[in-house]
Amino acid sequence: MCGIVGYTGNRNAITVLLDGLKALEYRGYDSAGIAYRTCNRIEVVKASGKIVNLEKKLNPNMHSNVGIGHTRWATHGKPNEVNSHPHRMGKFTIVHNGIIENYEVLKKLLVKSGYKFKTETDSEVIAGLLDKLYSEKNDVLKVIVELKKLLIGSYALGIICDDIPDKIYAVRKDSPLIIGVNDDESFIASDVPAILKYTNKYIILNDNEIAEIGRSVNVYNDNLDIVNKEVLTFEGNLEVAEKNGYEHFMLKEIHEQPEVIKNTTAPFLKFGLESLTENMPDFSKYDKIDIIGCGSAYHAGLVGKCLIEKYGNIPVNAFVASEYRYQKIFADEKTLVILISQSGETADTLACLRKVHDMGINTLAIVNVVGSSLAREADKVIYIKAGPEISVATTKAYLAQITILSLMALNIGYNKKLISESKALEIIDSYEKLPNFISEMIDKDYKDIAKSLYDKDNCFYIGRGIDYALSMEGSLKLKEISYIVSCAYAAGELKHGTISLIEDGTNVIAIVTDKNIADKTIGNIKEVKSRGAVISLITTEQIDDNFDVDYKVVMPTLNDFISPMVCAIPLQLISYETAKLRGCDIDKPKNLAKSVTVE
Ligand code: AGP
Repeated sequence: MCGIVGYTGNRNAITVLLDGLKALEYRGYDSAGIAYRTCNRIEVVKASGKIVNLEKKLNPNMHSNVGIGHTRWATHGKPNEVNSHPHRMGKFTIVHNGIIENYEVLKKLLVKSGYKFKTETDSEVIAGLLDKLYSEKNDVLKVIVELKKLLIGSYALGIICDDIPDKIYAVRKDSPLIIGVNDDESFIASDVPAILKYTNKYIILNDNEIAEIGRSVNVYNDNLDIVNKEVLTFEGNLEVAEKNGYEHFMLKEIHEQPEVIKNTTAPFLKFGLESLTENMPDFSKYDKIDIIGCGSAYHAGLVGKCLIEKYGNIPVNAFVASEYRYQKIFADEKTLVILISQSGETADTLACLRKVHDMGINTLAIVNVVGSSLAREADKVIYIKAGPEISVATTKAYLAQITILSLMALNIGYNKKLISESKALEIIDSYEKLPNFISEMIDKDYKDIAKSLYDKDNCFYIGRGIDYALSMEGSLKLKEISYIVSCAYAAGELKHGTISLIEDGTNVIAIVTDKNIADKTIGNIKEVKSRGAVISLITTEQIDDNFDVDYKVVMPTLNDFISPMVCAIPLQLISYETAKLRGCDIDKPKNLAKSVTVE
């Protein structure tokens, strides 16, 4: 996620901006830049890579009292110096966090008016629009009101206008922004850590509010009436601030998921079925799909297999990358190989990509980190837009991966006319509601299940079909952060060996969301229950029945396309709460790395 910082006051703005950007490094970034006013001009200095690269380019003797800065986490265009912020056009310099969904249309309009663009970003249009509107209205606040009417998407903006020497302007919609206040100086920032060295007093800028920030701060509504804002005091230290008040990054990332899903789905939903088709590859030329990944990415592939086969009527196989790279590959020009990776740098997944490339097979990468090796080397890439994930155990990236695969299943089924237009529109509509369903599941209490589990040595997950695929991810999540030995089984397999391990007090987590095979799994639940197992059941309102279990999580009955994302939430939180009771180092489990770049 990009980070924004801004300063106006008596200190040297360059120092304050650099301190702020360093404090926002935890959000993840690939380039950084600042703009500051000096000798009545605006200087823009940018560098790709780490903030030290930016520092090296700055003149240590330079002084300024007003500036804005940015750490970029690429979403549109490569992670390089040109695309990094701030962006400047005419009299306006801006930093932006968020995604402007209609930037292509706006860019065309500005090009017609003679504006020239230097970057591949969605953000540069904002500077152009501000300059164009200002040439007509000559009042920055009125210009920002007009700008808001033109932008579709999410934004937090820091704005400097050449004609207003000592002020910064800020506005936001669906992207965070705070204003730091102190005697005779003010700040803007994406997050409290960026200002904590200088002040712990801040104002939260709400959606659609506009701030004019000088030595004092005025906040306005759309009618440009002053809004009275409460000044808050942040009581914690820097570490608490980075986690936004959450005890762990994993918990913070779990809570970010409703917002992530909005970003992941936005490009595919904005103009209904048309944008779904436009943003997906043409699947009509393929008669087979191989999905490759490691760990959770492989598990996401298994969910994708279930959905794409069922609704797209095309054979899909999911493979562990470390196996696929050494096995005989049955693929030809009618095969699409999909590689899934949060980091885009996982050694085994990358090796598979290179192997199939050499065979002349078409590849599609589903990746989080923009400009990563997989994203660069695959024939096509779909970004999941989950934002930086810091906790080693993936949550939001996995959820965004299965969301993309589910959209893919819908796209294939609809284009093959296996799903009618009215049904497809109904499903599209359900993705809009998905963030709310996810929030509802996040708000449930999983502590009782965790208490039943935390002092045990082992645990079993069971499910059938897509519920088995989800079980595998639930089981991995539990073992990697709590160190409880945990295995996932296809429920029907239990009788073929594993049931011998079930005894009084053995924990079994059963997932039953697929109505069609629910009775079969319920039969398996009864078998283990009668042998003394402690059952935690994750099921839907429709299936929820009067059979005997010890703990129950009931989710709403949803269509097959969005149900897996909602079901993933209890699995994440059961693991989190259990690991917490065991006192584990949740964000950095032993022996594990976030990105596995060696074989
Ligand atoms: C999951 O919580 C793990 N961190 C791990 O299984 C991870 O999904 C795997 O290493 C793949 O990483 P990637 O998505 O970056 O390729």
